[in-house]
Amino acid sequence: MGIVLGIESSCDETAAALVTTDRRIVAQRIASQDESHAPYGGVVPEIAARAHAERLAPMIQAVMDEAGLTLGDLDAIAATAGPGLIGGVMVGLVSAKALAMAGDVPLIAVNHLEGHALSPRLADADLEFPYALLLVSGGHCQILRVEGVGRYRRLATTIDDALGEAFDKTAKILGLGFPGGPAVERLAREGDPRAVPLPRPLVGSGEPHFSFAGLKSAVLRAKESGQHRDADLAASFQQAALDCVLDRLQVALDAMEPVPALVVAGGVAANQAIRGALEQFACERGMRFVAPPMALCTDNAAMIAWAGCERLGQSDPLDIAARPRWPLDPEAEPVRGAGYKA
Ligand code: KG4
Ligand code: ZN
Repeated sequence: MGIVLGIESSCDETAAALVTTDRRIVAQRIASQDESHAPYGGVVPEIAARAHAERLAPMIQAVMDEAGLTLGDLDAIAATAGPGLIGGVMVGLVSAKALAMAGDVPLIAVNHLEGHALSPRLADADLEFPYALLLVSGGHCQILRVEGVGRYRRLATTIDDALGEAFDKTAKILGLGFPGGPAVERLAREGDPRAVPLPRPLVGSGEPHFSFAGLKSAVLRAKESGQHRDADLAASFQQAALDCVLDRLQVALDAMEPVPALVVAGGVAANQAIRGALEQFACERGMRFVAPPMALCTDNAAMIAWAGCERLGQSDPLDIAARPRWPLDPEAEPVRGAGYKA
C-alpha cells in the first residue's frame, strides 16, 4: 500500500489531503476563498494566489500531523500543475517541489482535469476503464472517453462558456451572489422549469459540443423583462441547461465506442437535479451511472492525491513548469468558433 500527499491550488480552493492506494482518505483540509472573492462577483487571481500562499503550508502541516506522518513516510507528493490560475498553481507546485526535495520523495505533477476525471475511481473501486465522462466545472465542460490513466479522448467541449460558468452568470443576473451554482439549484426547486421559454443552444447539432452563452443572454433578457419570478427563471435555466447536456451526451455516446459506465465529475456534478437526470439517462441506455460524493465533485486535494496514487511509480523533474493551459487530450481538434479552453 502506498500513501500520497495531494495539493490543490488552481482556483479558489486551497487544499491538502493524504490518500492511500487502497482508497482511504487518511486526512484532508480544504479552505474556500468564497468570502474574499464574493465582492467582485468572481475569482480575482491575485487575491487567490496570496490566499494560497498564506494558507497552504500550515494546511499541509495539519494533515501530516493528523496522520502522524513525516515526509519520509510518503510515497509521492502530487500537486496540481495546471490548468488554472497561474499564480495559485505556482504556489502549490513550488511547495510540492520543495517538500519533494527536502524529503527525497517523488514529485507527481497532476493535471487538475485528470484529478476530476479519475476522482470517481477513488470513491468506487468497481469503476474500471473505459468509461464515458461528463466533466462539468466552472472552467470546463467536456465529454471524454476515459481509456486509462493519461489516456483521454475528448469528444466534446464548449465553444463559449462552461456549464458552471453559466450557473454562476445566471446567479449573478438573479442577484444570488458567488459562487452561484448551489444558489441557483436551491432557488430552482421553488420554480416551474417550463415557465420561461429559453433557448437550447446547439441541441440537434450533429457534433456533441456545448454552448451556453446564448442561454445566459436569454436569461438576462427574461430577467430584464420583469415578467418572471426569479425562481421560475432559475428553474427554467436549469432545465434548459439539462436538456442541452442530455442531448449532447446522446450524440457523444452514439459517436464513441461503447462503454459500460457513464460518469459525471466536476463542481456541477454536485447538482442533484443534474445527477438525477443523468442517472435516469444512463439507466435508459443500459449503462451504469457513477457520480462521486459531493465533496469529491468540487475542487479538493483528495482527487489530486488519488491521481498521484494512480500514477505511483512515475515522477516528474523538479524543474517542471506550471501550465495555465493543459488539455487532457492534446490530439483533440480545436472547435470552430471556440475561444481557447484547456
Ligand atoms: O470543479 P469546481 O469546484 O472548480 C473548477 O475547477 O471550476 O467547479 C466549480 C463550479 C462553479 O461554477 C459552481 O457554480 C459549480 O461548479 N457548482 C454547481 C453546483 N455546485 C457547484 N453548479 C450547479 N449546481 C450546483 N449544486
Ligand atoms: Zn475543478
